[in-house]
Amino acid sequence: MRGLQGKSAIVTGGGRGIGAAIVERLAEEGVCVTVFDIVAENAVAVVEKVCAAGGNAHALTVDLTDHEQVKQAIKGTHEAHGLDIVINNAGWDLFIPFVDTTPDFWTKVIDINYRAPLSVLHTAIPLLIRSGGGRVVTIASDAGRGGSSGEAVYSGCKAGLIALSKSLAREHSRHNITFNVVCPGPTETPLFSGFMEGVSNPEKLREAFRRSVPMGRIGEPNDLPGAVAFFASDDAAYITGQVLSVSGGLTMIG
Ligand SMILES: NC(=O)c1ccc[n+]([C@@H]2O[C@H](COP(=O)([O-])OP(=O)(O)OC[C@H]3O[C@@H](n4cnc5c(N)ncnc54)[C@H](O)[C@@H]3O)[C@@H](O)[C@H]2O)c1
Repeated sequence: MRGLQGKSAIVTGGGRGIGAAIVERLAEEGVCVTVFDIVAENAVAVVEKVCAAGGNAHALTVDLTDHEQVKQAIKGTHEAHGLDIVINNAGWDLFIPFVDTTPDFWTKVIDINYRAPLSVLHTAIPLLIRSGGGRVVTIASDAGRGGSSGEAVYSGCKAGLIALSKSLAREHSRHNITFNVVCPGPTETPLFSGFMEGVSNPEKLREAFRRSVPMGRIGEPNDLPGAVAFFASDDAAYITGQVLSVSGGLTMIG
């Protein structure tokens, strides 16, 4: 894609799942990628894989729910490599009916899924403004567009990320920063497998998910990076505040 070669990106939660697939794809496109992940060995493993394939990537151990850590990590990345592209990918949830959740659970879900991107963007946007512009792509979820049973608080956070991205797209279009959102549907990642382990009949639920998708299959991590790379590229220079579902037709919104 146009305009990616030589750029510098941060991918949060890039140590596994969808984030790792995004890291590999951006590196293939010639981007220098810094992986922020709380699990150091996963971030290092992805970076080693990218570097072995001739790419340029770096790993940083960051707890994205710690505002000071996020600030230091972004400033360090900017000093070392510059900063052009921010991918807010990290997320977390468990399937629990809302009335069975607790305030501590709400705090954890909100901290990872909503507060962490706030910390990232609050630090990164002034740096992008100073360098003349940039691209922000946030991974939300179809749960944030259409709701999802057993994921009420998470769905609220993901809907919040969509409204946040649209608001920032309006505030910062004059700074040449675009903000777009990619929404996966059910996708086979360690997070999704973890959900399945927590339910009484995982095969039945997996089949229900599969049947709910018009294209008849659950997503794979590699279904997502093309859309992310597009929004990060110069091909999407005139696109901002948009939401794209990459979910086999699960969510169709005009
Ligand atoms: N898998 C799905 O079915 C699905 C569906 C819709 C949306 N999503 C979204 O896609 C994104 C990626 O999900 P995934 O399925 O690949 O998840 P995953 O759990 O497989 O990977 C998430 C990564 O984020 C990291 N992370 C979590 N909390 C962190 C923290 N506090 N600090 C730093 N790193 C942290 C994890 O260590 C992990 O490497 C998430 O935003 C998720 O909400 C996933």
